[in-house]
Amino acid sequence: MCGIIGYIGNENAVCKLTEGLSVLEYRGYDSVGIAVESDGEIKTVKCRGRIDDLKKKEELSALSSHCGIGHTRWATHGAPSDTNAHPHRSGRVTLVHNGIIENYKELKKELEAAGKSFVSETDSEIAAGLLDVCYLESKDPVTAILQCARKLTGSYALGILFEDRPGEVYAVRCGSPLLLASSEDGCYLASDMTAFLPFTKKYYCLAEGEIACLSAEGATVHRDGMSAFSPAWSITDLNAEAAQKGGYPHFMLKEIFEQPRAIVNAVSVRARNGLPDFSHDGIDLDFWRSIQRIQIVACGSAMHAGLVGAGLLEHYAKIPTTVHVASEYRYNPPLSSEGTLVLLISQSGETADTLAALRYAKSAGLPTLAIVNAVETTIAREADRRIYTYAGPEIAVATTKGYCTQAAVLYMIAAQIALARGKMTEGHLREMIHSLLTAAPAAMERFLSEKREQFVRLAGKLSKAEHMFYIGRGLDYSLSMEASLKLKEISYIHAESYAAGELKHGTISLVEEGTPVIAIMTERDLYDKTESNVREVASRGAYVILICREDAPSAKVSDDVILLPGTSDAETLFCALAAVQMLAYETARARGCDIDRPRNLAKSVTVE
Ligand code: F6R
Repeated sequence: MCGIIGYIGNENAVCKLTEGLSVLEYRGYDSVGIAVESDGEIKTVKCRGRIDDLKKKEELSALSSHCGIGHTRWATHGAPSDTNAHPHRSGRVTLVHNGIIENYKELKKELEAAGKSFVSETDSEIAAGLLDVCYLESKDPVTAILQCARKLTGSYALGILFEDRPGEVYAVRCGSPLLLASSEDGCYLASDMTAFLPFTKKYYCLAEGEIACLSAEGATVHRDGMSAFSPAWSITDLNAEAAQKGGYPHFMLKEIFEQPRAIVNAVSVRARNGLPDFSHDGIDLDFWRSIQRIQIVACGSAMHAGLVGAGLLEHYAKIPTTVHVASEYRYNPPLSSEGTLVLLISQSGETADTLAALRYAKSAGLPTLAIVNAVETTIAREADRRIYTYAGPEIAVATTKGYCTQAAVLYMIAAQIALARGKMTEGHLREMIHSLLTAAPAAMERFLSEKREQFVRLAGKLSKAEHMFYIGRGLDYSLSMEASLKLKEISYIHAESYAAGELKHGTISLVEEGTPVIAIMTERDLYDKTESNVREVASRGAYVILICREDAPSAKVSDDVILLPGTSDAETLFCALAAVQMLAYETARARGCDIDRPRNLAKSVTVE
């Protein structure tokens, strides 16, 4: 939700900032801008639109600088417009902001009463105004930022230039992410590591409340009450290619095809001698044994992965598990008791609602465990325990490999708790893990390459629809929720997901001649029941696509069928996932949609 970049060094800052913003664009893409220090002045170029629109501006090519900040926006306060685009300036302060200043209305009144005026509708410009007032009083950037931060409530990461401090970029964060990086050619700050991966692997995660100053001499960090120190740089093992399309037309397609490898990465470190083992994550058997019930808390697709996880946990580990939408959790908290574990799931590790739920659970004294992809993010750091999914950077706004690896990790947790509680035999567990580690990734890889033409053909038919349904039972119902979300968000076709037996209790009245209904049918015990539901919609004129196992007896009841390979449940589940992802992808492509950057969305939702 908004991307920030900053650079100071001996190379062209305009190029560095625009390159970094192109990578960060997935975080928001309705307006964009940079501010650089040039000839003793701060010069700003910004506009509504995307980085390519900014690059077309003549003022941009006229700029020459070695020091600046940039921003790509997902609008919260004020519509996307040239004026609301960042950077914002007030007096001697120019800044970019990611997050929400919750008390901006009160601050605005105070500042206006003191003579300040504002041109935009943003909360960010108010932060600039407040900082300018603090700077006027203290005359010292770090003191001013500290005083300003004390008055701001909400979440923020700020990149700041002071007009009378040439060659210096300042930064501070609270809630929203911000990293520093160091390379031969200078220093960077960015919301996400991917922005500086082409230039350096040396990074530092700015902690809450720390204030950074980047200059030609390097980076220094100030922490309240301590003298300034040089950051202790870490080295990332990610490489720049991880954030590039690598020959694929879209990041989403690349990420779908990366899933087989990603499952192996997520599972292999949690398997020892063929059995589940989370010592890699510092979690021992006693911890798993202590759990009596689980509350899974997440948003969107991560919550859908949680639904699959709940099914697996109850089925294999026999542990009562409920799933909660994170934005509801702290306002309508479920009842908890001794032994309740709160399990948070987040690809980005930044989602504001999930973070708020985590903080709520901690304040209620409940143990927390987070499944996170982006390392060292706020949710990962604040949870009592964390399990990384190791999916690598996910750039497409619609998650695919993030969800896939969350499901794989949940499979392993179910296996681990089943072992700890003696609910599965070692033999059965070994089979399950072997299937997750080898059979499922191999089946998914083959499936993805062999079925491409079929997905394109079916998507051609689906692309003409304006409404459609996904149906399924049990785990298939959970998967159908993800399937319809994926289709909606990237193709803009209205899709709903229904428990297969529920459609006839009202919603079937929407089914008419040609309405697409996609039935997922992998649960062997429920073949007959789901088949009846397929017949109900087919006899009312629906165009039915059935996604089922190769050995399903009822493959003929539909207009089209996607056959899933594999004998184990894990193979079938991950191939079914690939099928619904590819149907969404190809349908969006057939409709000419902006697949990696769907309208109104942004990758990490850092506002409640
Ligand atoms: C949909 C999608 C979102 C996210 C949700 C949670 O494709 O990506 O629904 O799953 O915003 O995000 P994280 O997992 O980053 O907490």
